[in-house]
Amino acid sequence: MSKPKAAVFASGTGSNFEALIKAEKLACEIVLLVCDKPQAKVLEKAETFHVPTFVFQAKDYPSKDVYEQKIIDQLREKDVEWVFLAGYMRIVGPVLLRAFEGKIINIHPSLLPAFPGKDAIGQAFESKVQETGVTIHYVDEGIDTGPIISQEAVPVYENDTKETLQQRIQKVEHQLYPKTINTLLGS
Ligand code: GRF
Repeated sequence: MSKPKAAVFASGTGSNFEALIKAEKLACEIVLLVCDKPQAKVLEKAETFHVPTFVFQAKDYPSKDVYEQKIIDQLREKDVEWVFLAGYMRIVGPVLLRAFEGKIINIHPSLLPAFPGKDAIGQAFESKVQETGVTIHYVDEGIDTGPIISQEAVPVYENDTKETLQQRIQKVEHQLYPKTINTLLGS
């Protein structure tokens, strides 16, 4: 039986995209990268790994509904069943949420509900917590509010800088995302 098809949405560096592409025995096939930033580093990674891309700029469309419908057309064309957000810096709107109900997953670098939104690692660092982490959750209409699927804690050490903390968190992200996807997809 062929694996279910998935798309990754990203706006930045794409280290999680790369981790999913390189994961051994991922339970799905990544057939598309959707990116809203034409200069994003993740696009170079997609080229390296021969993953087709759909690149758009929100400003070229009259509304979120219109560009999300365009994305849905691309996803349908490639028979995509699952959507994995990996540093996608846009709020998913009702059009996309309805079309892929229960099939859109996000990774967030904190132990939600702590530190939602932008710069979660900086927020945790500034708050001087002793522990933060990584959360994988279903996407709903809020910002980092959907039902949690998995979490892993990451310690914050006294001599950490924001950069060393970020590296520790990303290492966990790169393991937890493929592992969670495989559990979710039942393999
Ligand atoms: C990750 O920390 C992820 O949790 C957050 O955005 C970051 C993306 O990093 N949503 P990368 O582009 O995958 O390196």
